[in-house]
Amino acid sequence: MSRLLISIISIGSLFCPTLINASVLLPPPTGPFSVSLDTFELIDTSRPDPWNSTHTRRLILSRFDPLSPHQCRRTCPIPYMPPGTATFQDAAYGDLGIPIPPGTFGSLHLQLCCDAKKPKPHPHADWSRSSHPVLLFSPGMGFSRLFYSATASQVASQGYTVLTIDHTYDADVVEFPDGTLVTSALPVNITEEAVQKAAAVRVADVLFILDTLSPHRSHAAKKGKVGVFGHSLGGAAAAAAMHVDKRIRAGVNLDGQMVGDVATAGLERPFLLWGAGGHNSSTDATWASFKGVMERRGEWVKELELVDSAHLTFTDLPVLRDVFGFADLLPPQFGALIGSLKGERVVQILGAYVAAFFDFALKGKREGLLAGPSGAYPEVLFID
Ligand SMILES: *[C@@H]1O[C@H](CO)[C@@H](O)[C@H](O)[C@H]1NC(C)=O
Ligand SMILES: *[C@@H]1O[C@H](CO)[C@@H](O)[C@H](O)[C@H]1NC(C)=O
Ligand SMILES: *[C@@H]1O[C@H](CO)[C@@H](O)[C@H](O)[C@H]1NC(C)=O
Repeated sequence: MSRLLISIISIGSLFCPTLINASVLLPPPTGPFSVSLDTFELIDTSRPDPWNSTHTRRLILSRFDPLSPHQCRRTCPIPYMPPGTATFQDAAYGDLGIPIPPGTFGSLHLQLCCDAKKPKPHPHADWSRSSHPVLLFSPGMGFSRLFYSATASQVASQGYTVLTIDHTYDADVVEFPDGTLVTSALPVNITEEAVQKAAAVRVADVLFILDTLSPHRSHAAKKGKVGVFGHSLGGAAAAAAMHVDKRIRAGVNLDGQMVGDVATAGLERPFLLWGAGGHNSSTDATWASFKGVMERRGEWVKELELVDSAHLTFTDLPVLRDVFGFADLLPPQFGALIGSLKGERVVQILGAYVAAFFDFALKGKREGLLAGPSGAYPEVLFID
C-alpha cells in the first residue's frame, strides 16, 4: 500500500502525442442543496512547518458550501484541479502504468454552482454562525484533498459545509495560489515513525483550522456543529483529533487503521467505522480495541463494510476511472485497489451514509440509514 502511494508521489515523464481538450464532467451532486466551491489558504504563524522548519505552516483548503436552490443562478463546469497539479498528476498516474495523455486531469471538471445570489464566504468568517454544520475532511496519506471533491460535494449537497484539507508535505502535491507546487516530504519507504508524525501533524492542522475559523470556541461546541471525517490515515486523524478536542462532536473513519492513544482510550462522542472488504474489527486490532472500549461504555459506535470495495474505493478514483473510461487500461493491481463498484454509485453511497451519520450526531435526527441494513443500499453491511 505505502509503496503504491509513494509511486503516485514520484514524478515521471510521459510522452504521448494526443492532448485531451474536451471537458470531462463529473456527475453533479444530487442532494437537495446546490453546492459552491471556494479555495483558500490559512497560515499558522504560531508553528514552524513540522516538515520544513524554514517557514511557518501553510495549508490549502477547499470549502464546499450548500446553497438553497434559489440561491444558485447557474451551475457550470469548475476545474477539478488547478493546472500545475493537473500536469503533475498526469505524469504521476502515467508512471503507474496508466496510459493517460497530457491534459487528462486538466480536462476534468466538477459541476457546481458558479453564480450564487449571496456573497462569497469570507475565508475567516466565523462558521459557528453558519446555518449548516461544518465537516472537516482529512485525506489518505500521500493523497491530495482534490481526490475527494466528488464525495465532499455530495455530502455538502445534503446540508453541510465541507472543508477538505491538504496536509502540506504529506499530500503528494499541494498547489499554492501563486502557482507554487510543494511536493511530499514523506520518506520513500513509509516507516512507523513517519506514520506517527504525519498523524500528529494532521491533528495539529485540524485544531489550528478550528481555532482559526471558530474563534468563539465554546459557542461552536455548544451548538454541536463540528464533525470530522477522513480516509485511511485521515480517518485515524479524525479519531485522534476528537480525542484531544471536544469541539469536534462526531467523526467517521473510512478504512483507516487507528493511530495513537485513541485506539485504546476510545471516545465519548459518536463515531462510525467504515471498512473496505475484509477490513473490519476482526482483522484490525486497533478497530477491535476502539470499538470494544466504546461499547463497554455504552457510547454510540457502529461498524460498516462496503462490499466489493478496496482501500482506494473511498477516494474519487472509482468515479474518475468511469468518467475517463479507464477501467480496461488500469494495471490489474491498481484496479483491484479501487474495487469493482461503479464510481457514481460509490459517491452516492458514501454521501448517503456520511450525511445520515452526521444528521444523527450533529443535527439530532433519528439514526435513519444507520439504524440497520437498507434494501436501497445492499452494498453496505452492518458488522456487530
Ligand atoms: C523548505 O522550504 C524552502 C522555502 O520555501 C524550500 O526552498 C525548500 O525546498 C523546502 N524544503 C523541502 C525539503 O521541501
Ligand atoms: C525501500 O524499500 C525497498 C524494498 O524493501 C528497497 O528495495 C529500497 O531500497 C528502499 N528505498 C529506500 C530509499 O530506502
Ligand atoms: C472481517 O473480514 C474477514 C476477512 O475478509 C472476514 O473473514 C470476516 O468474515 C469479516 N468479519 C465480519 C464480522 O464480517
